[in-house]
Amino acid sequence: MSYPYQLTTLDAYHDAYRRSVADPEEFWADIAENFLWKKKWDKVLEWNFTEPKIEWFKGGKLNITENCIDRHLELKADDPAIIWEPNNPEERTRIVTYARLHKRVCQFAQVLKNNGVKKGDRVCIYMGMVPELAYAVLGCARIGAIHSVIFGGFSAQSIADRLEDAQATFIVTCDGAYRGGKDIPLKSIIDDALIGNKTIQRVIVYTRTRTPVSMIKGRDVWWEDEMEFAETQVEREGVVSFPAEEMDAEDPLFILYTSGSTGKPKGVVHTCAGYMIWTNYTFVNVFQYTPGEVHFCTADIGWITGHSYIVYGPLSAGGTSLMFEGIPTWPDAGRFWDIVQKHKVNILYTAPTAIRSLMGFGLEPIDGKNLSSLRVLGTVGEPINEEAWHWYNENIGHKNCPVVDTWWQTETAGTLISNLAGVTPSKPSWATLPLPGVQPLLVDENGKEVTEKDEHGYYNGNLCIKAPWPGILRTTYGDHERCRTNYFATYPGLYFTGDGCLKDENGNYRITGRVDDVLNVSGHRIGTAEVENAINMHSGVVESAVVGYPHDIKGQGIYAYVIVNHKHGDDDLTKRDINQTVSRIIGAIAKPDKIQFVSGLPKTRSGKIMRRILRKIAEGESGNLGDTSTLLDPGIVEEIRSGKL
Ligand code: WTA
Repeated sequence: MSYPYQLTTLDAYHDAYRRSVADPEEFWADIAENFLWKKKWDKVLEWNFTEPKIEWFKGGKLNITENCIDRHLELKADDPAIIWEPNNPEERTRIVTYARLHKRVCQFAQVLKNNGVKKGDRVCIYMGMVPELAYAVLGCARIGAIHSVIFGGFSAQSIADRLEDAQATFIVTCDGAYRGGKDIPLKSIIDDALIGNKTIQRVIVYTRTRTPVSMIKGRDVWWEDEMEFAETQVEREGVVSFPAEEMDAEDPLFILYTSGSTGKPKGVVHTCAGYMIWTNYTFVNVFQYTPGEVHFCTADIGWITGHSYIVYGPLSAGGTSLMFEGIPTWPDAGRFWDIVQKHKVNILYTAPTAIRSLMGFGLEPIDGKNLSSLRVLGTVGEPINEEAWHWYNENIGHKNCPVVDTWWQTETAGTLISNLAGVTPSKPSWATLPLPGVQPLLVDENGKEVTEKDEHGYYNGNLCIKAPWPGILRTTYGDHERCRTNYFATYPGLYFTGDGCLKDENGNYRITGRVDDVLNVSGHRIGTAEVENAINMHSGVVESAVVGYPHDIKGQGIYAYVIVNHKHGDDDLTKRDINQTVSRIIGAIAKPDKIQFVSGLPKTRSGKIMRRILRKIAEGESGNLGDTSTLLDPGIVEEIRSGKL
């Protein structure tokens, strides 16, 4: 199978782009014909960005798992769908063929049904990177339950908040997860999250680490027992395949929580058909995937990158997706290169933060590793600096592999701006051109299109998108108004990304980073308000303000200015207590890198914290702080500046 909609020349790209803008409905209808529908759509697109209301392929009926699995069975039953590489290189690799994947997903769908899960129910999945995580996700999709995967690094409190927001009724988890030298006790974290919870009816626990866990009668069941029962049931009842639920094109497929500029994460909702088509189309075109190739996306399925480019994109394309349980630096910094060599990886898709961290180990871990199978390299999640781009291109790709810099967001489902590997030109640290169907627009603070170049010859503004593509978010779960105010109200008539951006005269885009109060730490989105709320939970803290600062490896680090009225022990212990509090409330990923104790914060007379000043000081650029005359107490700035860490 190859893909009729794969754009393999520069002309084909430009032609497709033109057609996608001139007549989006015709353009996407042609592409949608390549998928398996139980019933075709009545209308390709209906939309307005005011409410917002966005509907793609309305009236169409399908099930995404039939597109990801069943339709490949005839020709690819014995081809690998998932190659699983364990945390510990001594442990055996698992190869999951399409036939096996079909069997396991059907079986798990049966397990969900046996446990009372129905179409539309919210199932929270909190697991390590084991193939069973993919079975759980796809099992939900098979029966039409809405999955909400939570990254294993989030704390019990974060899970509890998400369970509450989604009104989830089921959980799938593991006893524990391996990550490098650590075991994370997932079930025990779930147990903490469930204290006081009233909605969860059942917890299904997969055995991975054999950590002792508490199993509550009537609530907790073992994955293995349930799967075994479902298997004999399938045999007994002569059912070979669990029927895929007929889903509306616009039925929700999943919720994924992400940070914004307010204190509470939002549940981004994606729907069945649009999400499927967008992840597939971008997977096939950005990476120029050829059937038979091994695609290695190093993200965790707890993030959108894993949803779209480990599970749904590659599988809907009948591809082979490599899933890695561990981390790049364990047992040593050569782990990625060992995996590339061992599994003859063709496409490597990772984050700039991983590249920068591996750069720090020098070339020794790469020495002697055969990387010749690599054809395409990709990056995602944060701006890539030129040094890292060149290091990746030269030492990993040996200048033979196009590097695709893919810009996108949880809300966009898949890539919106990127070069297409070997088809459209790359430009170091530029995401370059929009995919067909994507119409970017740079605006100034007032929402007016930027039409003048800056002193460097670039258009510089806030990145918006003018019209919907199939993968755009539809709502934020349980709160549509929040979706409107967050994304569609800042600049009426436009989807606002929250990112700042440059455009050159050839139409290439370069994303410069968030312009809202969201940090990007090691490619993870973290809202400053969330971190402040967590710090403020500490009993000795009066107030805090959190900003980002440039960090060599993480991209951005978290800098917290904190007013305390009570120190328990010395400064160092108090800082560790604050960090511990943040770990409890959000998770270790949100721990501040630097905490500076201050006696006050720079505020305007109306009480607003002037973050601009705090950012400048944290960035080490306090020479020119701009106008501080509107401050309530200008003296505080000097104190903060002299105490900078
Ligand atoms: C940033 C991850 C520069 C951006 C897929 C965006 C990038 C946020 C790039 C979304 C890139 C992602 N170049 N910045 N190639 N890709 N970003 O929701 O600020 O975790 O808004 O989605 O990451 O993060 P999210």
